[in-house]
Order: sequence, then structure tokens, then C-alpha cells
Amino acid sequence: MSKRKSIEKTIRDLRDEIRRHDELYYLRENPEISDREYDSLIEKLRELEAKHPELVTPDSPTQRVAGHPAESFPEFVHRVPMLSLDNSYSIDELRAFDERCRKLADGKSPEYVAELKIDGLSLSVHYADGVFVRGVTRGDGFRGEDVSSNVRTIRSVPLKLRDNGKRAPREIEVRGEAYLGRRIFERINAEREEAGEARFANPRNAASGTIRQLDPSITARRRLEMFAYDVFAGQRKAFATHWEALNWAESAGFRVNENRALCKTIDEVVDFCNRMEAKRDNLDYEIDGVVVKVNSTALQDQFGATGKAPRWAIAYKYAARQATTRVNDIVVQVGRTGALTPVAMLEPVQLGGVTVSRSTLHNEDEIERLGLKIGDYVLVERGGDVIPKVVKVIESKRTGKEKKFRPPTKCPVCGGLVSRPEGEAVSRCIAADCGAQLIGRLLHFASRRAMRIEGLGGALAEQLLDRKLVKDVADLYTLTLDDLASLDRMAEKSASNVLAQIEESKTRDLWHLIYGLGIRHVGERTAAILARHFGSLDRLAAASVEELDEIHEIGLTMAESIHDWFADSGNRELCDRLTRSGVRTTLTGESAAAQTGQLFAGKVFVLTGTLPDMTRDEARELIESNGGRVTGSVSKKTDFVLAGADPGSKLDKANQLEVKVIDEAEFKKMLG
Ligand code: IVH
Repeated sequence: MSKRKSIEKTIRDLRDEIRRHDELYYLRENPEISDREYDSLIEKLRELEAKHPELVTPDSPTQRVAGHPAESFPEFVHRVPMLSLDNSYSIDELRAFDERCRKLADGKSPEYVAELKIDGLSLSVHYADGVFVRGVTRGDGFRGEDVSSNVRTIRSVPLKLRDNGKRAPREIEVRGEAYLGRRIFERINAEREEAGEARFANPRNAASGTIRQLDPSITARRRLEMFAYDVFAGQRKAFATHWEALNWAESAGFRVNENRALCKTIDEVVDFCNRMEAKRDNLDYEIDGVVVKVNSTALQDQFGATGKAPRWAIAYKYAARQATTRVNDIVVQVGRTGALTPVAMLEPVQLGGVTVSRSTLHNEDEIERLGLKIGDYVLVERGGDVIPKVVKVIESKRTGKEKKFRPPTKCPVCGGLVSRPEGEAVSRCIAADCGAQLIGRLLHFASRRAMRIEGLGGALAEQLLDRKLVKDVADLYTLTLDDLASLDRMAEKSASNVLAQIEESKTRDLWHLIYGLGIRHVGERTAAILARHFGSLDRLAAASVEELDEIHEIGLTMAESIHDWFADSGNRELCDRLTRSGVRTTLTGESAAAQTGQLFAGKVFVLTGTLPDMTRDEARELIESNGGRVTGSVSKKTDFVLAGADPGSKLDKANQLEVKVIDEAEFKKMLG
């Protein structure tokens, strides 16, 4: 082979390898390599391409992030207008849609496809001869913006269609909904808050802000995803049925939502709508309903469209979990890091089955953004999660008696100084001995995922501080039975129980202790990684920023935060006192995996169905914080399928592959 041919081959092989990993990561949620290993493959490819620019092709994985900041986006006229959908808000309206369809189909019952209505923004992605050419936003439905450089960064949008053995038309347009997962959304907002920027109000806004980012490297970091929902060949639908289109898209490398159903009757559609509503909170993305589409494309053409929406499809919208209520007051809470968080005290209101009486406002900028005053009527909304948020102020209900919220200049708990560094969104109490912070730190230290000291709740923590029995977490280990029994509402029996709990907490695994210290940016997962890596608190305390930053999954911000925490002499002294009081600060040799909370080290779980007591996110947290991984589909590599009610096809697959299936009770037993 000539030298050139061999370079071409290396490049081709690398690209194939990267595409395979993209697919494993994004479509199967079952990665084989770490992010770092993935990055180094990209880097290798990038170097080779830099040396041989003539070999760079638009479908190379390096092109996902190679774009330069744009000044603005060029306009693109859609070949087929991107229509919107008519809405229905009740099962009766859905049945009326079915009646209309049957009339239009000359009395015959059409088949329907029911799929989730993802709350994101629609995109149109174009391919020529199987290679990505452009990605366009919906815009006004007729013209959108060419945001190709950003769409390239969406890893669930293939840059090259996978050869699925089926001949694809030369020109293909795939439409879908781009969205941000709930976890990513939370992460972005947390980062924005840290950086002093305003939070995004919801994942949809965040997704549309992201797709219109002029700098594609920012889009790439935000990890947008897309669920494909339609396929065109030129100006026509590419397949005889919608169901085939979805299956084709999936086999060509797109992510297509697994929650879809081919329904023979409207009753089956209704059943799907109800099942999905029950599942709604367990999804990692927001949905606002179900889209019902006539399956046959010939019938779709026959039915046509009204001005803005097709007659062959309808959105069935779930009842908005929104309500209006009055903000009676805005109080300020002080967290364990001293952050002051304004909270709206609401006139209690029913929202999706729960009574809501408070809602966090995050920070002062959020109050400003909403234009919120005390006494205002507001629209509150409960998204997929349980935490309600204030969406907007209803200005028409103002009486003129509303009062402006004045951010406190002193800490509402200790009266200490409050500081809001330039450019930051959060004000903090900077008093080292602020009671609220101390209580927060004690409760965090004693919490279930940290040192698990049962019986140490808010009321007890408050008394311990008031009586000056405790001023930091190490003091807990100096408490005597007399100290505890002398407190209000504390019988000798409960005092000795608490004391026994404190004693027992000394034996907790190292990661619980690291997590319990409450170092900024160190969650359970990071704590487990640190425990495994360093093996002792001493070694962790001595680590340099560089050493920390080198650990896979620990970024620079985290590394600096950990280093700064241990650089503080007060914190070092606290660690010494904890060690002297007999708290375990090292990993023990045998069963080190279990000791670091790595109970599920290397184990692969798949979640399916609705669990009785926990959400999917909670189950995922537990698995991940114990060293396991959660993937989306069952394969031979799956160790456990954690199944709840209404489990679907994953359970069949598990049985077929003889993968162990467990229920929530067994899972809890495994966790002890
Ligand atoms: S089909 C003509 N399918 O909902 C049919 N739309 O309210 C057009 N959406 O603009 C869309 N999930 O952004 C379709 N599975 C899905 C969808 C979906 C979300 C969005 C889409 C559309 C909007 C209409």
C-alpha cells in the first residue's frame, strides 16, 4: 500500500471507530470507552487531518466542533413548510379527531402512530448522498435559519447516514425535535448561576438559546439531543407509512423515541396517552403531550392541511400543571455555603395533585427577570419534576399595593455581612460562624448519603448550636450522653440512640465522609471517585490542583474547589480532629470496591417501567453513586434489569437474554 493510501485508511478507520463510539454512547447509551479515550481518538484524527487537509470531508467527526463563531445565521427557505399542530385537550377531542379522519378516509378507520410530544424546538436536517449538508430551524415555518454549525454538534444527528441495507433517496430531509435532557439543563443552570449569569426558565428556552448560539463550541458543550420524527425525500414523504419512516430513521443512525405505538384504533391511542402520562415524570426530558399521526402517507396527502396545521395529525396536550396564585411574601434562606436564596411563599394552591405553598426564586436576578413584587399574582408551573416554579407575573391583577423585594444587606439569620461579588448572581453570607450555614453543614454531614446519623434533624441541630455544644461537624464526636439528655424534648433513650448513631457513623466508607464535608462541587459521585483514587483523606488533602485535574471526570473548577477547601487551615484542623476522634479516613483493604460506595462497580443496569417508590432519576443516582452504570437498552452486557410496573419490551428482551431482572424491593435489599 502506498504511504498515502495507508494514511487514508488510518483516517477512515479512525472515523469509523469514532462513529461506532458515538452510536454506542448516544443511541445505545452503552459506551465502551471513557470520554477521555474518546477525546484522544478525536484528537488523533484532528492531527492527521491537519497534516492532510485535502482529506478532510464534511462528514468527518472532527467537523462536529470545528465551526467558527458566526456573525449571524443565513436564511433558508423550507422545501416543505414546517407546519404546526392543532391541539386537543381531552379524550373527547381526540375522539372527535378520529371521527374527522374516518370521514376524510371515506368511512374507513385509519391506523395511527402515537408518539411523545417533546418539549423542545423543531429542526430540519438535510442529507445528500447520505452526508449531512445542513440543519435549519423552523423559523416562521416557511423560512428558518441555517444553524448547520450547531446542528453538527448534536451527536444524535448523524453526519453520515448509516448504511442500513435499504436504498435511501439521494436527497433526504429528517425533521425532529431538539431538546436538552433534564440533568443537562440543571447542570447548565447551575453553571450559569455559578458564573453569575441568569438561569434559563425551562429546557425549551435553553435549547433554543443553544441552537442559536453563534459560537458552536458552546453548543457542543451543552449536549443538545434530537429525536427524529419525520422523513422527506425532496418534497414528498419518503415512505409509504409514518411507522416505516420512524424505523428507517432509527436504522439510519438517528435517535427515535422508543415510546411510540402503532395503533389500530383510537382506543389504543387513548391507552397510549394515559400510559405515557403516568410515565411522564420518569423521563429524562420534558414532554407536553402526545402527537397522533395518520400512518399512511397516501392518506396524509389525501387529507391535506388547513392554513397552519395538517388534518392528519393532532397534539393531545396533557393538562398544564399550572395555576395562578398570590405571592404572600418573599423570604430569604441561607444555605450551607452561605448562599442566600429567595423563596416565594405562595397562597397554597393545587398543582398536578400536590399542594404547593413555596417556590424557589433562585437568586435576585431571577426576581428581576420576572419583575416580581411581593403581593403579585403569578403563574406557577410544575414541570416533570416536583419542584414548582414561578413562570410569570400576572400584571393585570396588580392593585398598586405590591411591594418591591429588597435584598437583605445583612444575613437574615446571623446578621453577618452579605457579599455579592461583581458579575455573580448569588449573594452570600460571609460570616464563618453563621448559624444557618452551620446547621446546613451539620444536616448535610448527617444526611443519609453522607454519614447517615439518624435522629440528627433540624430541631436537634439548632439546639446543639444554641447551647454551644457544637460549632462544627467534628464536635459531634465529642458529645456525651449528658450533653444530649440535657436538651429539650430529649429523653435518655433517644439521647443514647443518637449517640449510638454518631458512634456508628465513624465506620462509614471514606466517600461518605468526603461527600459529607460539603466541599463545593463535590457530589456523591465525585466523592466516590476521589475516595477510590486517593484511598485516604490525608492523600486527598495533599493533592495539587494538577493532580486533581488529571483525574478523569474531575474538571478544573472542581479541582480548584477541592484544593482550596483543603488549603484552608480551619478545614485542615477539622480533618485532623475528625481523624483523632476515630472517624474512618481511609479505605480498608479488603472489599475496597464496596468500601468506596462502589457496590455496583462495573455493573450495568437498565431501568424499565414505573417503580413504586422512586423515580428513575433517583434509581439512576443510586446506581451511579455506587459505581454502576445505567444504559438504555438490554444487551448481553447488562447485569440487571430493574423493572417496575408496565415494563415494556425491555423486560421481554431481558428474559430472552436471561439477564437478571430485579424489582425495587430487591434493589433496595442490594443497597442494604
Ligand atoms: S410532528 C406537521 N412530532 O410540536 C407535523 N412534532 O406543536 C409537525 N413536536 O412544531 C410536527 N414532538 O416542534 C411532531 N413527535 C413529534 C413532536 C413534535 C414535538 C413539536 C414540533 C412542532 C410542535 C407543534
